[in-house]
Amino acid sequence: MSRILTGDRPTGALHLGHYFGTLANRVRLQRGGHEVFVVIADYQVISDRDRPGDLDQTVSGLVLDYLGCGLDPDETVIFPHSAVPALNQLLLPFLSLVSMGELLRNPTVKEEISLAGRSTVSGLMFTYPVHQAADVLFCQADLVPVGRDQLPHLELTRSIARRFNDRYGQVFPLPDALLGEAPVLAGLDGRKMGKSLGNGIALADPQDLVAAKIRAARTDSEREVTYEPGRRPHVANLLRIAGLCARREPEDVAAQIGSGGALALKDVVTQAVCEFLAPIQERRAAFAPEDVRRVLSHGTAIANDVAERTLHEVRAAMGMTYRHIARRAAAGCVTVEA
Ligand code: TRP
Repeated sequence: MSRILTGDRPTGALHLGHYFGTLANRVRLQRGGHEVFVVIADYQVISDRDRPGDLDQTVSGLVLDYLGCGLDPDETVIFPHSAVPALNQLLLPFLSLVSMGELLRNPTVKEEISLAGRSTVSGLMFTYPVHQAADVLFCQADLVPVGRDQLPHLELTRSIARRFNDRYGQVFPLPDALLGEAPVLAGLDGRKMGKSLGNGIALADPQDLVAAKIRAARTDSEREVTYEPGRRPHVANLLRIAGLCARREPEDVAAQIGSGGALALKDVVTQAVCEFLAPIQERRAAFAPEDVRRVLSHGTAIANDVAERTLHEVRAAMGMTYRHIARRAAAGCVTVEA
């Protein structure tokens, strides 16, 4: 059995791209009996914006999305990383293991910088991938289900683990990535489907909103519907969305629509998406705010336990468990023994 860690930024509602990129994998792995940890990366939210927004609301929406997709809080550890001090402390030794050059070259970070379109770039933008390594390594995970855009961060995580082990002795396993079936699903405007870009279909979107979004999606003016990702990217993306939701090949969906044109295509996509989302939304609606609180408290307590153990191992490996400091004081407790 593996220990799995993955996570999301609480910047908005989860959408179909997340589902097929990683959520489906998480549920499958959890049902297969693996230990699954899901980090809500709240500190990452402020890497590319000044204010985190209403985190209370975004985080509880995220937890409801997880529960709706079938994650079972008795099996899966769900927690915000800001609530796990020992995890955050791993950032410091990890920063010493990476070069500025590596941080500046990260292609995902570069893309996020250009998408953010701001005149200044924060230091956190360049260092959050190192913090993300702490998200993965604090629980000594061996498998990380992610979308393709996260591969540079995982590569960095592996480098950090390898360098730490080389320098201080074996502490961390090297985690592997697990790619979902549709790592990067395009949004309805042709850009990447993004939580904060407003171009995706959220798992919690009601049917009329799904229909309106798909009606407004870009297509082209050819009557015959065909699956040609290179030449007709917008049509192909809609066919892919319908195909994933209906568990069919996009070519089959295209063949069924034939010369029905964009209107028929959009009807078929809308129906496939709504049918797919119905059971997720039904499960989602069965949970109350009190359930969310319980899930997060339970997950955070376990994550703290695990993180404190790892941090202790890390400090011991680095020679930072001083004989002359009492255990409780060294762990950061306020009461100092006489
Ligand atoms: N950076 C990821 C995203 O934007 C979220 C994330 C944070 C994550 N920590 C992680 C993903 C650890 C995998 C493992 O989606």
